Order: sequence, then structure tokens, then C-alpha cells
Amino acid sequence: MDHMTAEIVSYYRDRYEEAARLGRRPQSRLERIRTLELLREVLPEAPARVLDVGGGPGAYARDLVAAGYEVRLVDIVPAHVEQARAGRPPVEAVVGDARSLPEVDGSWHATLLLGPLYHLHQPADRVRALREAIRVTEPGGPVVAAAISRFAGPIDFAATARFNERTLDEAVRLRSSGVNDASTGFTQAYFHRVSELVGECAEAGLANVTIHGVEGPAWAAAEAAIGGPSEQAVFEAALQLARVYGTEPDLVASSCHMLAIGTAPARG
Ligand SMILES: C[S@@+](CC[C@H](N)C(=O)[O-])C[C@H]1O[C@@H](n2cnc3c(N)ncnc32)[C@H](O)[C@@H]1O
Repeated sequence: MDHMTAEIVSYYRDRYEEAARLGRRPQSRLERIRTLELLREVLPEAPARVLDVGGGPGAYARDLVAAGYEVRLVDIVPAHVEQARAGRPPVEAVVGDARSLPEVDGSWHATLLLGPLYHLHQPADRVRALREAIRVTEPGGPVVAAAISRFAGPIDFAATARFNERTLDEAVRLRSSGVNDASTGFTQAYFHRVSELVGECAEAGLANVTIHGVEGPAWAAAEAAIGGPSEQAVFEAALQLARVYGTEPDLVASSCHMLAIGTAPARG
């Protein structure tokens, strides 16, 4: 295992409780609601076979299993795989790397890649992960890949009153480099510009790609409203805007997460 992968495994095993993430904050609640809505729009009907690569402890896989899908989760963190297997409903899960999937060509009706792209620093590795997702998906089947916006971190720090000189420097640095400075938080990570995500999908051969902003442009306002009298009203408005502006090109990168949704091309 390379040192970056080892760092990601130890981060999720020892320093971060991924299983609790999606219910915690307005940003992550918006992320979950909108991701599930988009999956409902693009996935084939249950009982289709869905491969969930980088599925973590199984937040989405469990919903899909409950909805009648046949799901297998692949994740590089053994602790996540154990949690996915032990959850309710349990999820079939294996340890594996998105860059080299232990799966047969075209054997899944749809593939999710909701995590690995933003943990891979090198463009070649990200394209490899996308190519693998495409390879294992039947031609015409959807591939859904998540990226974190280049601007999400500094916006988050500003909205939650954690902005200081260090985060200002980081905001400036991120304009020219998408590599996360792990000393400011999170772990080994890469934050995309929209053009990079589009370019990597094209290089990997993903067809019919649309880039969606997941949480919409007002997620940070919902964070800033926590504990105030307008908390619920701002959250509801942020959700509506996320739906209305989801594919608005001028606003996509104002979301925290972006989803590239495309299809596996016909094999030549
Ligand atoms: C923030 S979590 C997201 C989990 C879940 N997909 C979700 O969207 O809530 C990112 C996940 O990607 C996994 N991951 C990172 N790099 C990976 C790789 N190269 N191959 C497979 N999984 C990877 C991590 O272990 C982690 O479980």
C-alpha cells in the first residue's frame, strides 16, 4: 500500500467517524437528500445491480439494498467494509481499490464512485478510477462520480466563523493547486475545478456527461444559520435552490460536492 493510501486508511480508521457524517450538518443533509434524489433519477429500476465504489460504511448502499437493488460495496478502508457488512440492512462489501476493481467487464447495471476521485492527487489515478468504473458497467449504464469543489473548504470556514489568516492563505493557494493541505483538516484529498472534472471524464471515455452541483449555492448560508431563528427556513430555501440550479454551469462549483453523471459507452 502506498503512503497516501495508508494515510487515508488511518484517517478513516482512527481520526474520523464517517458513519455519522451524513446526518450531521446542513451541508451533509443537503448532500444526502440531493444525492439520493439524483440517484433515483438516473439508476435503472430495482432490482438492478449497482456497484458502490468508495461506498464507505454504506450510507447509500443501505438505502439501495432497502429499495431492492443488488449492491456490492468496494472500499479501500477495511473498517468501512466491516461497518457496511454489519449495518442494517447488511451490505455485501469487499476491500478493494477504485483504480483496480476486482470485477468483470460490464457486470454491473450502474456504478457509483462517490469518494475515490477526491482522495486521489494524481490526474492519471483519477482517470484510472473513472476508466475502471466504466469498464465494469454495462454499455449505456450510468456511472456517477463525486468530486469536491475547489472552493468548498474556504467557503465552509467562512460560513462557520472559522476563517482566519491561515484559511485566507489556503483560499489563495487553492486557486492554483487543488491538493488539500491536510494540516488544515481532512486527509489526503484533491479538490476539483469543473473543467478538470469534465476533462477527466472525457479522458476516461465517459459518455453523455452532465455535471451537477449537489448542495446548491446556498448550502453555506444554511451552515451560517445553524442555531438561529431562520435555521429551518434557510435550509429549506437552500434545498429548493439546489434543485433549481443543480446543473446551472455558472453555479456548479459553488456546491460543496459535484456529481459527474454519465453513461458507459458502447464497446468498440
Ligand atoms: C467521504 S467517504 C464517502 C463515502 C460514501 N460514498 C458517501 O458518499 O457517503 C470517501 C470514501 O472513499 C473511500 N476511498 C478513498 N480512496 C479510495 C480508493 N482508491 N478506492 C476505494 N475506495 C476509496 C474511502 O475509504 C471512503 O470510504
